[in-house]
Amino acid sequence: MGSNLDHIYPVFDKMLPREAKEELLGQRGAVIWMYGLSGSGKSTLANLLERCLHEQGKMVKVLDGDNVRSGLNSNLGFSDEDRLENIRRVAEVAKLFADSGIVTVTSFITPNNELRDIAREVIGDDDLLEVYVKASFETCAERDPKGLYARVKAGEVKQFTGKDSAFEEPSRPDLIIDTETLSEDDALEQLFSAVLAMIDQKIG
Ligand code: ADX
Repeated sequence: MGSNLDHIYPVFDKMLPREAKEELLGQRGAVIWMYGLSGSGKSTLANLLERCLHEQGKMVKVLDGDNVRSGLNSNLGFSDEDRLENIRRVAEVAKLFADSGIVTVTSFITPNNELRDIAREVIGDDDLLEVYVKASFETCAERDPKGLYARVKAGEVKQFTGKDSAFEEPSRPDLIIDTETLSEDDALEQLFSAVLAMIDQKIG
């Protein structure tokens, strides 16, 4: 996929600044980037987090792998190249939401450190909380909420993360939520308090 920036004239300085939108909403934009294996609990926690933040009066948007891949990224598969493009686009979209003052929660496997670095580079350190939702392949296969691991075992799914497509342990997540040892309530509490600390610190 090439990029052609010839004859493109981005104009940012005439746009209403981000701060005006943040003031309107009474909050600061941020991106909570949640990643981990399929079945690790990312989507469940992302949706619970959205509700908790919403109840606190925060405007939140969740971007979820399966949803985004059925729309914006429906032309992408699971090769290394397509996963990179998936994450690049999602990072750009998350940045657009954060620039509008919205707390954006993403839920994508993001299987290696190169992809996590791309997300960080696009979004920027100040706006990003990187959360590793940790559970082993075996545990995820046991949970198998979508019946996908059974299909993998039957040889019906190729390039599956953790099997024939690598999942690299993260080098420096801001937060690790271990869903093997924590109850759902405790996992949510840890996540929620870290997110509140981050967005409150941005206001302070
Ligand atoms: S990522 O690697 O590019 O970050 P993403 O989070 O968007 O992946 O999509 C993962 C979701 O797609 C999984 O939760 C699962 O439901 C589905 N899926 C289908 N095929 C695969 C595959 N080969 N590997 C991983 N997930 C797959």
